[in-house]
Amino acid sequence: MKISITETDQSRISEVDFNHLQFGRIFSDHMLEMVYKDGQWHEPKIIPYGPIQFTPSMQALHYGQAIFEGMKAYHVDDETLHLFRPKDHHQRLNNSARRLCMPEIDEQIFIEGLEELISLDHQWVPKQHGHALYVRPFMFAAEEYLAAKVSKEYRFYVITSPVAAYYSEGFNPVKLTTSEKFVRAVEGGTGEAKAAGNYAASFLPAQNAQKKGFTQVIWLDAKEKRFIEEVGTMNIFFQIDEKLVTPKLSGSVLPGITRRSVIEIAKNWGTVVEERRVGIDEIIEAHKSGRLKEVFGSGTAAVISPVGVIQHGDETIRLDEEKIGPFAKKMFATITGIQYGKIDDPFGWTHPISLD
Ligand code: COI
Repeated sequence: MKISITETDQSRISEVDFNHLQFGRIFSDHMLEMVYKDGQWHEPKIIPYGPIQFTPSMQALHYGQAIFEGMKAYHVDDETLHLFRPKDHHQRLNNSARRLCMPEIDEQIFIEGLEELISLDHQWVPKQHGHALYVRPFMFAAEEYLAAKVSKEYRFYVITSPVAAYYSEGFNPVKLTTSEKFVRAVEGGTGEAKAAGNYAASFLPAQNAQKKGFTQVIWLDAKEKRFIEEVGTMNIFFQIDEKLVTPKLSGSVLPGITRRSVIEIAKNWGTVVEERRVGIDEIIEAHKSGRLKEVFGSGTAAVISPVGVIQHGDETIRLDEEKIGPFAKKMFATITGIQYGKIDDPFGWTHPISLD
């Protein structure tokens, strides 16, 4: 399918202070738009970024059929950008779409749409190491209909935003607390889909946690409130003795692409990686006995974020609250090294976009 391009006649790039980027506040000049109607996707269009029109009866606003992805484009040099594992993001988008009864998107259209959009707005990709162009594909139900039914119309967009680190703490470890009352997802629910509603459901408990001085909630399973799942903005890893332990994908955990990359890199280093049920009591015990060396989160936005504190009821695990641990630091250097093309990519994860 051909992608039509309408360029803006008024770039906003001169207004951007690339030295003081906040996560997700400013958006590049163009966006990709594609409409699903009459049982098929229609011609994708790249158009100037700006307001879109819809009516108040649009189904996504009422019944929440809305999903998204998050990936990044990295500046390698003046001729090359890298996207990181875009085909994995495409697959996850389609998995989310199937769970929410939404139409899938063809891989070629997805990849070509990203390539065209990012090449057109390549000047928006920050050059500073650690900064990147955050790429946000998303889809929502667009039929004008108040019946609680699967929509027959959808819209798909890709917008992009130059970003710095997601957590303003940067390398200062984040502080997490469990929630006694709330859960993020249940087995059989939508927890493993990247559904907008999962994030909406996490805001109240996250707000409560922030009022108590924590950065985020570390979610426990819904049944026993005992097994660790994820952090909502990232997956979580524990270094216990010399092993790397992470909650298995139980159906209520988001299958993070950075999570998968961390596992593959660690295995490649010869580290024993265990994907299994991880009880909060096990982590408290491992900490008490000195076996818990490091805790860190992984995510596209969060990259590798060290965890300094985990509170659970009366127990508080305090790790190094000042700095990132050696394992997380090496993991961060390796992942970002591959993403920015500074070190070899033996896994074939980088997807180059050439700018000639
Ligand atoms: C991402 O890491 O891309 C996400 O979607 C998390 C979001 C909360 C920023």
